[in-house]
Amino acid sequence: MNINFTIKGTLVNLIKIIAGLLLLLANPILKSNTMHTPNLLEKIIQEYTPEYCFLLEEIYGKGMMSEGEAEGIEHMFSEISLNNKKMLDIGSGLGGVALYLADTYNADVTGIDINPWMIAESTNRIPYHLQSKICYKCITSNDFLDFPDSSFDIVFSKNMLTHIDHKEPLFKEIKRVLKPDGILVITDCLSPVQGVWGPHMNTMATTDGLTIFAHTKQHYRTILTSAGFKNIEIRDDSLLYKNYNEKICNNFLIPEKKEKFIKEYGENSYQENLKSYQAVVDAFELGEVIMFRFTAYAK
Ligand SMILES: C[S@@+](CC[C@H](N)C(=O)[O-])C[C@H]1O[C@@H](n2cnc3c(N)ncnc32)[C@H](O)[C@@H]1O
Repeated sequence: MNINFTIKGTLVNLIKIIAGLLLLLANPILKSNTMHTPNLLEKIIQEYTPEYCFLLEEIYGKGMMSEGEAEGIEHMFSEISLNNKKMLDIGSGLGGVALYLADTYNADVTGIDINPWMIAESTNRIPYHLQSKICYKCITSNDFLDFPDSSFDIVFSKNMLTHIDHKEPLFKEIKRVLKPDGILVITDCLSPVQGVWGPHMNTMATTDGLTIFAHTKQHYRTILTSAGFKNIEIRDDSLLYKNYNEKICNNFLIPEKKEKFIKEYGENSYQENLKSYQAVVDAFELGEVIMFRFTAYAK
């Protein structure tokens, strides 16, 4: 009697476990939120195809793959002195941020990214007058940054860290390459719940085909502290970023812009992009995502 019952129960549990595993394997976001595969970097490299990046640039402005243009960069570094600083940009993309900082503040900027074609593209774009101020390097791991100790006044990362599940080794390396009075500046999106994005962020990630990890403010604080950072400050920039995304949605609806976009990228891409940016606006409205700026000091 009970034996039958137990076997049945065990079978049901086994089926549940197998179904759960299959679901995990079938869902890239779910999967990458729970395990760190050695192929994660490769996967993210493949997600940022030239077509996708140039489309982002069309939406965000020259050289940019995230919101805000010059105003967004200024806001990211508000109250931080930038003149003549030596800076490291982690996840430099098409190079727009580094270019702006070198040109506006005479900063020396090294940009690093995992995507070799982006490094070639951004290097080609360095204007003659900034050739000695900017360089881009391809990296293959976040566990070791190939720079001597105490190399930089400022290390920063704009809209990239959400792609990294285990940030601890990178934070330790950032601490090492920062000068003792150096500062780390991060702008990125956070979730109110560790390991879980709300439905609208999942819609965005699925529509764009991006792997992003849901980490909380507290998680960042904990791992920055254990990497040795001091005076960690966090500023909520959600309203500003909600406005940026709303503006993008409104732009999509302007008839001439809509027509131009469809002509260049097709109706399907137009609808998908509109859906994705609207999902981000909704995520901000519902508190499913928080945009933050972190500053943390090496000493
Ligand atoms: C949303 S884009 C932002 C690019 C740039 N920071 C900007 O704001 O225009 C994210 C960038 O991070 C890069 N990236 C993703 N994972 C990375 C990693 N683990 N280490 C370094 N770069 C990474 C991607 O290749 C991409 O260029």
